[in-house]
Amino acid sequence: MYKDKKVVFSGIQPSGSLTIGNYLGALKNFSAFSEEYRCYYCVVDEHAITVRQNPAELRRRTYDTLALYVACGLDPEKNVLFVQSHVSGHAELGWILDCYTMFGELSRMTQFKDKSKKNADNINAGLFTYPALMAADILLYQTELVPVGDDQKQHLEIARDIATRFNGIYGDTFIVPDAFINKTPAARIMSLAEPTKKMSKSDENENATVRILDDRDTVIRKFKRAVTDSESEICAREGKDGIINLMSIYGAFTGKSFEEIEREFDGKGYGEFKLAVGETCADALAPVQAEFKRLSSDKAYLESLMAKGAAEAHHDSLRTLSKVRRKIGFTERPR
Ligand code: TRP
Repeated sequence: MYKDKKVVFSGIQPSGSLTIGNYLGALKNFSAFSEEYRCYYCVVDEHAITVRQNPAELRRRTYDTLALYVACGLDPEKNVLFVQSHVSGHAELGWILDCYTMFGELSRMTQFKDKSKKNADNINAGLFTYPALMAADILLYQTELVPVGDDQKQHLEIARDIATRFNGIYGDTFIVPDAFINKTPAARIMSLAEPTKKMSKSDENENATVRILDDRDTVIRKFKRAVTDSESEICAREGKDGIINLMSIYGAFTGKSFEEIEREFDGKGYGEFKLAVGETCADALAPVQAEFKRLSSDKAYLESLMAKGAAEAHHDSLRTLSKVRRKIGFTERPR
């Protein structure tokens, strides 16, 4: 039945607690693809170890990220939800694609340069070849569409280049994937502390991010402290990055346009607006948090989901993998 469906693949690293930026820009929208596409949503733990992780925390976050996928509305019956390291084809194709990825092109990746600066004492080979593993994730399932934030555009480009290069040498093997970049304001939720910078789950300033699992009081307090400007008007004018960001967040949760928001808060102060955004956000997160709490207390259920997702993904991965092995001249694997 899924054989005639096109494929969507996306991945989230189990490093750091996810923010409302991840929720509004990505997770919340993922379920919309599942009618039309065969969807794989992966917890990419192999990518996470390119920077040093605390083992117990990595394990817990892997469960949590899977639980969040479900809590954010992804039906495990309609989507393949799985953990990257449970499907050996990712590492296997990753190695193969390393050999079709150029040192020069990897050197140009801005994320590698940024992360090298941040982790100067651990610039490991995995951090460098990260984009080839990401290409493997995508190409392994003959993916057509990859929903990602615009910070991942360059990685998508390299995945396309690797696929095209490989196809050029061996004939059509991989589908060349397209990025699906969400262009709504919800895709660029900015830091509450520095509204010209994207909200990042790894920000060290806790007041910069609102996390999906923050409790109500914390959410409201963080919005109260959000950096704005010295004016008093709630409108999307240039230079008002903080207010525009709050309007984007409010709009994403309520479905209201900027014009509607401007009208709603005409003549009202920043304090009142911030409180409304905080309460709306907390209200919207409450059901997700309740579902997360229910799921994460049921480890056996999460493990059954892991097993199901891994079996499906593994099964689907074998077609591409055996095709690739044959094309490059590996001998057939003894059964
Ligand atoms: N690199 C992505 C990020 O940090 C995560 C990721 C890994 C991914 N493999 C992927 C995203 C495949 C989309 C498709 O956000």
